[in-house]
Amino acid sequence: MKFTKLSCVLVFFVAMNAYPLGQNLIINVDHRSAVSLNGKWQAIIDPFEIGYYDYRYQPNKNGFFKNAKPRDKTELIEYDFDKSEVLNVPGDWNSQQDKLFLYEGSIWYKKSFDYQRRPNTRVFVYFGAANYHSIVYLNGQKLGEHIGGFTPFNFEITRLVREKDNFLVVKVDNKRRHDGVPTVNTDWWNYGGLTRRVMLVEVQETFIRDYFIQLKRGSLKTVVGWIQLDGKQTSQTITVEIPEANVKQIFNTDADGYVEFEFDAELQLWSPDNPRLYDVIIKSQTDSLSDSVGFRSIETKGSKILLNGKPIFLRGVCIHEQAPKSKARAFSKEHAETLLGWAKEMNCNFVRLAHYPHNEYMPRTADRLGMLVWSEIPVYWTILWENESTLTNALNQLTEMITRDKNRASVILWSMANETPVGDARNEFLRTLVERAKSLDPTRLITAAMEKSYQGKNKPVINDPFGQYVDVLGCNEYIGWYEGLPDRCDLYSWGTIYDKPVIFSEFGGGALYGFNADKDTRWSEEYQEYLYEKQIKMFEKIPFLAGTCPWILSDFRSPRRLLPQIQDYWNRKGLISDKGEKKKAFYVMQLFYEKLKQNEQ
Ligand code: GCU
Repeated sequence: MKFTKLSCVLVFFVAMNAYPLGQNLIINVDHRSAVSLNGKWQAIIDPFEIGYYDYRYQPNKNGFFKNAKPRDKTELIEYDFDKSEVLNVPGDWNSQQDKLFLYEGSIWYKKSFDYQRRPNTRVFVYFGAANYHSIVYLNGQKLGEHIGGFTPFNFEITRLVREKDNFLVVKVDNKRRHDGVPTVNTDWWNYGGLTRRVMLVEVQETFIRDYFIQLKRGSLKTVVGWIQLDGKQTSQTITVEIPEANVKQIFNTDADGYVEFEFDAELQLWSPDNPRLYDVIIKSQTDSLSDSVGFRSIETKGSKILLNGKPIFLRGVCIHEQAPKSKARAFSKEHAETLLGWAKEMNCNFVRLAHYPHNEYMPRTADRLGMLVWSEIPVYWTILWENESTLTNALNQLTEMITRDKNRASVILWSMANETPVGDARNEFLRTLVERAKSLDPTRLITAAMEKSYQGKNKPVINDPFGQYVDVLGCNEYIGWYEGLPDRCDLYSWGTIYDKPVIFSEFGGGALYGFNADKDTRWSEEYQEYLYEKQIKMFEKIPFLAGTCPWILSDFRSPRRLLPQIQDYWNRKGLISDKGEKKKAFYVMQLFYEKLKQNEQ
């Protein structure tokens, strides 16, 4: 199996556009030596970006990144990090202070730290994510920038870091942009800030920066992959060990520090019922790294999805990165365990992480709990299809998403987009994304959440031309909510022009927990309950349906939801309320999935 060497892709990529990308991404930071910079950071709220631009709106070489202090009583310095706000990291800023609830703009973060670097090592500052445009400085020097709010990035600081009094300054700007990904219009809160963990990662001078190890597509025993070293000593001998499977394989990297491998092994296959993870140990002459990896195969056959060669129905639910029972964005292992725990309780074996890559604890927890995952980049609604930097941005987010999570058995689907309007420029844009995804990861399935059209009254059909480029068709439908009343479900007979699996990637309706009325009263739990009953009846008549994903596991913050005393900036389509209370429809889905589970056995 041929892989595309990431390094040459990135080189092309950097050349192609003006964005100073984060340097080559380091993966699996959880198994590396690292120092956390999480905690309280100084922060300056700078709506007019006076810390970056001078009065001529030109970049100011004495900006806030200098963290300057008056040297004597005469010197004029008009900011002081240490007397300014304090914000928690990781964390969005909107839920930390009332005055920042609706804030969209720039905030400067500063963290001071000492650092004892061990000899013959290199140090990188690593960000789990920062929304949206980050400019990073250490000790007054610019390290680089990153665009995109949901994927990790890192910068090397080996030559800049000192033993005492380092100051790391990050300008984070979450202003929405038309040419952005996502663009200016989303049905989720535009949480700003250093929303995920920040750490100093210390590695050997030549270290194992990136690797890929999974089952070959269509095989239950052939392991394929590659390893990328980073450093001067590029030609090295590498061993890949899976002790519990008696695997010990030896390879040699080329002059670029790269090697591909393929070997057979007797492995217990990972599945939701048996989420078997193996310790994988990769050793080079200068470095060693372990990871816990599951091995499973994922394919399609006609309208069936095959996990480890057997058909599986995806009993799913959609999840936003909303911290459970909280107004904040989720970021922690505990948040992941609660959210995926609720999905398990609903008898799910699958989750759609919408509409952007979630924090790394989600796929890693899904690996452990046995939950299949759909992961997506925020190509959402109508972005600027013909804008080159928008495409570059989307390609970059896609590359970072796949780079981070390509060794997670739980992740089976890469989604390119959500509810994007059919059109030549859009089709071409999305086709380019598919090409990139397949070149980076030939082992997983490609999908997107598309919309239906009609081939006659009550005859919805899935015929989006982009469907020809994906392995699995996602379809969002809101029959009984945006489209008629729940009884309309009885009238519909679904069609598709593709012989491919279909997942209803969204369906559902809103309900305010505790508002009880008859089944025809919008926003009541009874309306939502009845809507789900009707949807399920409709599903049972669709032979090519391979999965369902209610919108959505729990109520989430949205600036598009303004109905007083019902929404109040919450999208109420959750099956669980913003306080963790289960609505009646939750139990309808739980029972439906229980039955499917029993039928599978
Ligand atoms: C859309 C969209 C979601 C949105 C949902 C809704 O389909 O994909 O992001 O939240 O519908 O209207 O609630």
